[in-house]
Amino acid sequence: MTPHLCVPQALIARCRFPVRRSGEFDLNLFTMSMDRSLDGRHAEGRTFVDVGSGCGRLVLAAAVLWPSLGCVAGVEQMRELHQIALKASTAVELPEPPLRRFICGDAADALADELCPDFVFAYSSAFAGFGDELTEFSAVCGTHLMPGTRVVTTDKRLRNSECWSFALLDAIEGPNRETCGSIAYVYEVITSLRV
Ligand SMILES: C[S@@+](CC[C@H](N)C(=O)[O-])C[C@H]1O[C@@H](n2cnc3c(N)ncnc32)[C@H](O)[C@@H]1O
Repeated sequence: MTPHLCVPQALIARCRFPVRRSGEFDLNLFTMSMDRSLDGRHAEGRTFVDVGSGCGRLVLAAAVLWPSLGCVAGVEQMRELHQIALKASTAVELPEPPLRRFICGDAADALADELCPDFVFAYSSAFAGFGDELTEFSAVCGTHLMPGTRVVTTDKRLRNSECWSFALLDAIEGPNRETCGSIAYVYEVITSLRV
C-alpha cells in the first residue's frame, strides 16, 4: 500500500495551479484504487494514463507515488487545461521521475495511436452513460486497451459487449468533495479488439 499522501500533496501544492481548475478527483481514493490496480502487478517500467487529465494533478501524483513506473501520461481534450498541465509539470521537481507525457486531444485517438497503457484511471462520473454504465468509454477501452490492462472508473461501470469484456476486481467507496462520495471501480480488461 502507498503510505504517504503528504508527499504528492506537498509537491503538487508547489505547482501553483491557477485558481480555475477542472474537477479534481480525491487523492486518497485515487491512491486506494490505483493500489488495488497494482495488486499482483509490478509497476516497474509500466505506463499509467489518466484519461481526461485536466491540469495534470493525478499524473504528477502518480509519478510521485509510484516512481518506478516507466511513464505517466495524461490525455486532455481542453487545450487550456493541457497547457496548465505542461506548465505544472515543468515547474515541479520530482525525485526519480518516470517519463511524463501530456497529450492534448481525444482519449480514443491517443489510446489508438500513441499510448499502450498498463494502468488507466478515468474520473468518469460525467462521461456519457446509460444508467450507471459508461457507453462510449466502454467502447474506447474495449477497442484500444490490451487484455490485462487495469482500468479504474468512477461512479459509473464499464459495460461488456460481444466484442470485449471486463472483470470487476473491486469497488472502493471513498470521499469526493465534489459529489459527496464516489465509488472507484477497478477492472481488468479480459478480452478486447486490440491484439
Ligand atoms: C473531472 S476532470 C478530471 C481531471 C483529473 N483527472 C482529476 O481527476 O483531477 C475530467 C476531464 O476529462 C476531460 N475529458 C472528457 N472527455 C475526454 C476525452 N474524450 N478525451 C480527453 N479528455 C476528456 C475533460 O475535459 C475534463 O478536463
